[in-house]
Amino acid sequence: MAAEQNAGSLDSAFYHPADAFFPAQAGLALTYDDLTLSTLYSETLPRDTSLDTELAGGLCLHLPIISADMDTVTESRMATGMALNGGLGLIHYNMPEKQQLKEVSRVKNHVHGLIQEPITVAPDKTVGDVIELTETKRYSFSTFPVVGDDRKLVGLLSGNVLKPRYAAKQVTSALVPRDQVQTILESQLGADPIAIADQFFTDHPGINKLLVVDDNDELHGLFTLSDIERITTEKLSQFRPARDNHFRLLCGAAVSTPRNDDGELDRERIVTHIGALIERGADVIAVSTAHGHSKGVGDAVALIRAAYPDLPLIAGNVTTAAGVDYLADKGANIIKIGQGPGSICTTRLVAGVGIPQMTALYVASQAAKAKGVSLLADGGITKSGDIVKALTLADGVICGGLLAGCPETPGQVMEISGKLYKQYRGMGSLAAMKSGSAARYGHAPKEANLKVAAEGIEALKEVSENLDQLLGQLTGGVQAGMGYLGAATLADLRAKACYTRISPAGQKEAAPHDVVEMKASS
Ligand code: XMP
Repeated sequence: MAAEQNAGSLDSAFYHPADAFFPAQAGLALTYDDLTLSTLYSETLPRDTSLDTELAGGLCLHLPIISADMDTVTESRMATGMALNGGLGLIHYNMPEKQQLKEVSRVKNHVHGLIQEPITVAPDKTVGDVIELTETKRYSFSTFPVVGDDRKLVGLLSGNVLKPRYAAKQVTSALVPRDQVQTILESQLGADPIAIADQFFTDHPGINKLLVVDDNDELHGLFTLSDIERITTEKLSQFRPARDNHFRLLCGAAVSTPRNDDGELDRERIVTHIGALIERGADVIAVSTAHGHSKGVGDAVALIRAAYPDLPLIAGNVTTAAGVDYLADKGANIIKIGQGPGSICTTRLVAGVGIPQMTALYVASQAAKAKGVSLLADGGITKSGDIVKALTLADGVICGGLLAGCPETPGQVMEISGKLYKQYRGMGSLAAMKSGSAARYGHAPKEANLKVAAEGIEALKEVSENLDQLLGQLTGGVQAGMGYLGAATLADLRAKACYTRISPAGQKEAAPHDVVEMKASS
């Protein structure tokens, strides 16, 4: 017993919980590589840990990783991949507003249980017309509901008859007639349409399409057995896609906060665009700026909050407790922490401001607790160990550079001296500001063509493995970290973490050393 007490007090003399560790370092700001976490007694296997995080009421992720709202990182392909892996993508706003709406729609309409607007064919077409349509549009499916001009269901054209030998036949003579097609009334779908469809397919062996109609027999949707099976399997798996209540993938979007000619926030444009994003299904909106603790940003957040009281709203960036208080009071429920840590950021060099991430996160976390808001650690994450450290103080992380080499990012792959690269640029780089992000750095859009001080660089990232593989590696790393701390959940991780600083020699010791590396671990 005495020996145990001795061991315990020895540990607590060297490895300190956040509230003892960070205040003791006051005056010296620390980032990820400046400290390490001490291991703790564990009965938790990495594979049994849960990475679920609730960022705001109703906004839950199964992977606390968010892809940055940057024009070389997140458009619909990246956002879809992030949500399929349980995380979230924030679609950037360096594009026309209409285009951003389309990007959000692409994510939200990614195959979900009920296909609400199935592709239909008209009864007076020929089978040859339908074959041509399938080929030119490269549809990956071959069964089509047949509807008349009045939208009423006429039958179902099965893939089995899409053969050249039937090309001359009219769809009417090749379809499965209406009375033999399995349908369900839209009003019978209730609160859990997937469960209803699942039960239907169980009760009807051999049937793999279920059409949804209204009281007038007009078509309103289509379930396929394969989608339902994929979704029900997914519900049982540990890491599942991040979905909304309608089983659509989650998607976020960043917005600019334009001003009119008088310099006032253009309320109508902001509110209308956000309304359209919400209508398309956006689950969270981000107001991303370099200096969140400023009147302009606070006014924009307050304006959005007043217009949309229940909207999950991300705002930032700040690195102080006062900054968190300010944005929380204005109505943000999720606050981004990070000024200058990003791999393409030059804010600290150009403006001489910004705080290393772990200290900024600790200070911010004290205010966040008091205000009941959540925090995202934004920028500077280069490895899964950084994510574990960030999650001891934050509810999620935002990554730009770490994901920028994935094939899922926007932009072409370039070959330079036999190596493959993708472009990655700061939203405060001159090129990105000219494309629309100038206001994020406090410049009027027209100033972007003049000489303004860029706070980011244009860079290249070597093409990496695909997003699924990369997130698999990162998830494994975070779960390993949780296992070492005996933390089954992210709340446990926050409660248990104990830190110590590391010396430069300790940092060197932390990476492979004194060997000739033959194969880098990814
Ligand atoms: P990482 O390290 O993941 O950082 O590449 C991504 C985050 O960096 C921020 N960001 C910038 N910060 N100048 C800055 O000072 C810039 O040009 C810039 N562009 C992006 C942003 O918070 C992003 O999520």
